[in-house]
Amino acid sequence: MNSITLQPAVSVKGEIIVPGDKSISHRSIMLGAIANGITTVRGFLRGEDNMSTMKAFRAMGVDIADDGETIRITGCGLRGLKEPGDVLDCGNSGTTIRLITGLLSGQSFFSVVTGDQYLRKRPMKRVVEPLSLMGARISGRSGGTLAPLAINGGALKGIAYQSPVSSAQIKSSLMLAGLYADGETTVSEPSLSRDHSERMFRLFGASLTINDNGVSVRGGVELTAQEVTVPGDISSAAFFMVAALITPNSELLIKNVGVNPSRTGVIDILQAMGGDIQLVDQREVSGEPVADLLVRSSRLKGISISGSVVPRAIDEFPAICVAAARAEGVTTIRDAKELRVKETDRITAMAVNLRKLGITVVETEDGMDITGSELLVGGNVDSSGDHRIAMSMSVASLVATSAITVTDIECVATSFPTFFPLLEKVSSNC
Ligand code: S3P
Repeated sequence: MNSITLQPAVSVKGEIIVPGDKSISHRSIMLGAIANGITTVRGFLRGEDNMSTMKAFRAMGVDIADDGETIRITGCGLRGLKEPGDVLDCGNSGTTIRLITGLLSGQSFFSVVTGDQYLRKRPMKRVVEPLSLMGARISGRSGGTLAPLAINGGALKGIAYQSPVSSAQIKSSLMLAGLYADGETTVSEPSLSRDHSERMFRLFGASLTINDNGVSVRGGVELTAQEVTVPGDISSAAFFMVAALITPNSELLIKNVGVNPSRTGVIDILQAMGGDIQLVDQREVSGEPVADLLVRSSRLKGISISGSVVPRAIDEFPAICVAAARAEGVTTIRDAKELRVKETDRITAMAVNLRKLGITVVETEDGMDITGSELLVGGNVDSSGDHRIAMSMSVASLVATSAITVTDIECVATSFPTFFPLLEKVSSNC
């Protein structure tokens, strides 16, 4: 099992560019594949999760060329995908499997989707159930709640679905199915999850309305190829924001970061903790807000985190937990039960790891209480095969009293293949 040993740092300084946004990269392939014409994508994230999406669409006959800079997708129109000759392996990617299950439900062919040992344990009922209400014929392990899932694509009808959880994967899966359904498909959720699908559907010319009842998609409308530029992923930037905030003598400029309001919960939370984060040169690219982030070392204090900010920061909690471990006082996290069904149970994984560094953590069913400390001891921690646990514990090493060894770090390649070289580039040990 791969591991890395990281030494404490005296500062985090410089200027970095983080790789492209994972969510937007997935969606650019999916919509490009079913649009008419050639879609070009710049800034695409070539992490393992996105490569799983790319492979799945190539297996359905879509020509996707990559010259190392630009991805060129020759769209085959709404009805042009071909039956794949084999099982579609989505690897570790929840976004790939849940979104394409929606898309595949409306095709006129049979397909099977699966993933790695972690993905095969993650809940699929959340998409299978509403898709079945639309008429999808999906079966799978455990009564159709776990992958592999077998999908007998066919005719769908639009429904109005009130999702019990705020989840962009559920919403987007139904929106993609909705492109093939008779009539209108409406999805609403308790509070807004990331809205990249809504923005990209618009960009590609889908018939879409957004109102208080949620998002509605009209079926049967052909999409038009686009030129997409993907901004840097705020979820990747979050590790470096926390790194610069907690390490003394630090000043870091993170360039070209997506600051879509449905994703900026992490900035709101860290600023509320006293973090010095400035948004510089705000602009819009391919329908998404973008800015440079200037982050300086700060004295952080514990706060209470709950409610609608939680889905807006859902992937950033491992990094936020590390900030909380260094803050003065207690940080309480609630309404975050979804963290238990991510790549691993992130509440338990972070609690176990932070305790190993001497931090007091109390787990609750839907969150945790973290008592911050000036003293983080070194030691051995494990990622549980989860990229964000691996990266957040690597950031914690910057302020520990001695080295931290993080085991099982290959998973970092799913979202941020250049994470360790970048961390080394900006952190100084002497
Ligand atoms: C994602 C949605 C979120 C997030 C995941 C990416 C997406 O999952 O955690 O990393 O691209 O739609 P949920 O929809 O399960 O909250």
